[in-house]
Amino acid sequence: MTTPALEAQGISKRWPRTGAVLEDCSLRVERRTVHALIGSSGSGKSTLLRCLALLDPPDSGSIRVDGVLAAGEGAVAADPNLRRSIGVVFQEPSLFTHLTALANVALAPHRVLGLDPGDAHERARRALDRVHALHLGDRHPEALSGGERQRVAMARALAMEPTVLLCDEPTSALDPMLTREVMAVLRDLALDAGTTMVVVSHDMEFVTAAADSFDFLHAGRIRISGSVDRLGTRGVDDELDRFLQRS
Ligand SMILES: Nc1ncnc2c1ncn2[C@@H]1O[C@H](COP(=O)(O)OP(=O)(O)O)[C@@H](O)[C@H]1O
Ligand SMILES: [Mg+2]
Repeated sequence: MTTPALEAQGISKRWPRTGAVLEDCSLRVERRTVHALIGSSGSGKSTLLRCLALLDPPDSGSIRVDGVLAAGEGAVAADPNLRRSIGVVFQEPSLFTHLTALANVALAPHRVLGLDPGDAHERARRALDRVHALHLGDRHPEALSGGERQRVAMARALAMEPTVLLCDEPTSALDPMLTREVMAVLRDLALDAGTTMVVVSHDMEFVTAAADSFDFLHAGRIRISGSVDRLGTRGVDDELDRFLQRS
């Protein structure tokens, strides 16, 4: 078997007041595949994604990125190389308001990866192009729509050429028109054979069209997982049926 791009084993996490939020979650994301995390609000999707992004440490369990131990017993604490190999797109894009879209995207390749400004800008242009936003490069965030800002945030993550791109409901803060625009870009990225992604989404149309595999979270546990083809069949699990009915 080939080494998965991302692998989590036995992830558990509690928050001080909430108690157990994740219990014994394991998942495996193969290279060049798109993995969807689905589940009701409060089921733990964002918490799991933040653990996978190495932003919050799990209480127990381990995470491997391209086979390298990134979190868990024996992991080098917050190895910056591993962290930057994981791109994250959050629900709300946070761009630097004083920088153009292009400068926002070029910033980390220049400052973090040490590319010279010309190379960093070239890479930023390529990333903007992947999200169909090359024409927006000269604009400042205030001159962009919410959907355009979110696409620039995707480009910013892609410009670091991450091993895996994690997206947490990237359209949840957008109105339906802008949602369609961002979902179309996300779908293009997902269908691009080179991308490895984990996407939290309640858009089942997107999940069934663009994802390869899924995990269904319920009350902090991965209840059902497998190929998205399984989502076409009802009667596998009551909770999953109830969730699909609501979505
Ligand atoms: N930083 C935090 N501190 C305390 N509780 C949290 C924190 N983040 C999330 N939670 C709790 O963890 C549970 C799962 O939340 P979350 O991972 O955001 O779920 P989802 O993304 O599926 O809606 C919720 O009960 C939420 O209130
Ligand atoms: Mg969430």
